[in-house]
Amino acid sequence: MRPSLSGADGRNELTSATFMRSLAAAMADLTTLPTVSPGLVRTAYRLSQGLRMAWYSGLYRLTSQITSRVPAAPEVKARMPSRRDLMAGLEDLLARDLANIEAGRYRMPHDWLPRPAAWLTQAARYLVDLREVERRRRHRDGQEVWREAERRGYPRYYLQNFHYQTDGYLSRRSAELYDVQVEVLFGGSADAMRRQALPPLGEHLAGRGIAGTRLLDVACGTGRFLGFVKDNWPRLETVGLDMSGAYLAAAGDALRPYRRVRLVEGAAERLPFADGSFDIVSCLYLLHELPRKVRRLAAAEISRALAPGGLLLLVDSLQLGDVPAYDALLEHFPVAFHEPYYADYVRDDLGAMFAAAGLRPEGTEIAYLSRVMRFRKPETAARARVSAAKRPMPPTARNRAERSPTGGRSRRARSIRGGA
Ligand SMILES: C[S@@+](CC[C@H](N)C(=O)[O-])C[C@H]1O[C@@H](n2cnc3c(N)ncnc32)[C@H](O)[C@@H]1O
Repeated sequence: MRPSLSGADGRNELTSATFMRSLAAAMADLTTLPTVSPGLVRTAYRLSQGLRMAWYSGLYRLTSQITSRVPAAPEVKARMPSRRDLMAGLEDLLARDLANIEAGRYRMPHDWLPRPAAWLTQAARYLVDLREVERRRRHRDGQEVWREAERRGYPRYYLQNFHYQTDGYLSRRSAELYDVQVEVLFGGSADAMRRQALPPLGEHLAGRGIAGTRLLDVACGTGRFLGFVKDNWPRLETVGLDMSGAYLAAAGDALRPYRRVRLVEGAAERLPFADGSFDIVSCLYLLHELPRKVRRLAAAEISRALAPGGLLLLVDSLQLGDVPAYDALLEHFPVAFHEPYYADYVRDDLGAMFAAAGLRPEGTEIAYLSRVMRFRKPETAARARVSAAKRPMPPTARNRAERSPTGGRSRRARSIRGGA
């Protein structure tokens, strides 16, 4: 069932935003009816995604005009990709997204209907904040949040103004700006890249069933990926974990129409869950923001939290050599967008890292500027799979032994929102 016009708490919340969301969802429902011609679905998709790309690439162009150009680092020798190179990758991604929708692998995005008022509000916020972002970029100052938040108990590597964004990941304002910033950066294609993790998820669920199956989204941010997951499999038990309480609060708002979603504040490298608690773990755009040592700790923790036979779905930036025509872009990115661990990430051997954590690779696909990777935790005779029905739910704030998300310091892992 699609969300109705009432909130998860049962109250009727017929605001214009919920109305538009529900209208978009209802119309997306229509596009899945067998009687609706494939031509109509295709047209609706092309119109909605075309508008989306035009809007966000327009904002990108405006951004380039009103901010200073960051010269390529001298060590970047390769040629920057041409517009044609980039368009080829983008068209390939959109063709795949549409093909997946047409094949019923996932639904038309729930927010496919353009919402001009919301887009304008977001754009205004983004443009107002851009001056601050630009100031940090010009001074190469990605440490503002470290100076301001020194005593908050977060790990040092996390206290960065990633992408030179205001407040790093530590405020509601940052959470409200994040989605639009990312879409501007990727010209409106970020959600389509995230959706490329849905087909392998669907295959896994088709094989195992939804009842008793649990998914953990590590570093769920504002909940974009979980929104697509819940829209397609509303009965799936899902948990979103993130280090940022502010981003989790935004995710809580975005996921309010859905049940069986729990949001937990915690660290990927110290997951507050029992061994084998989840059948599926997803993790999107986290690894490139972790120092190598923490990346390995997170890989080990993800493997520990997966049940034998469980699936890990990763979506993250391309690495060097994935698409040689884009290599210079990957070299330039951390210079222009304060990404302190990115240069290491693009050279890291992720296959070896997850193999060392006990996971088996099942394939990697390129999705425009991202790679989608699948890993499996082998079924082992020694550790028989605990029946899903008997396995306890991951602990909540009330029943979980206290574990610090920051490696033993004072902050508590806490559950932000309980699902139904
Ligand atoms: C680039 S964002 C990606 C968010 C989301 N997955 C998406 O697709 O947009 C990185 C997210 O990782 C979170 N994060 C960074 N380091 C983390 C850690 N060690 N443990 C948990 N979350 C972390 C940040 O708070 C932020 O929400």
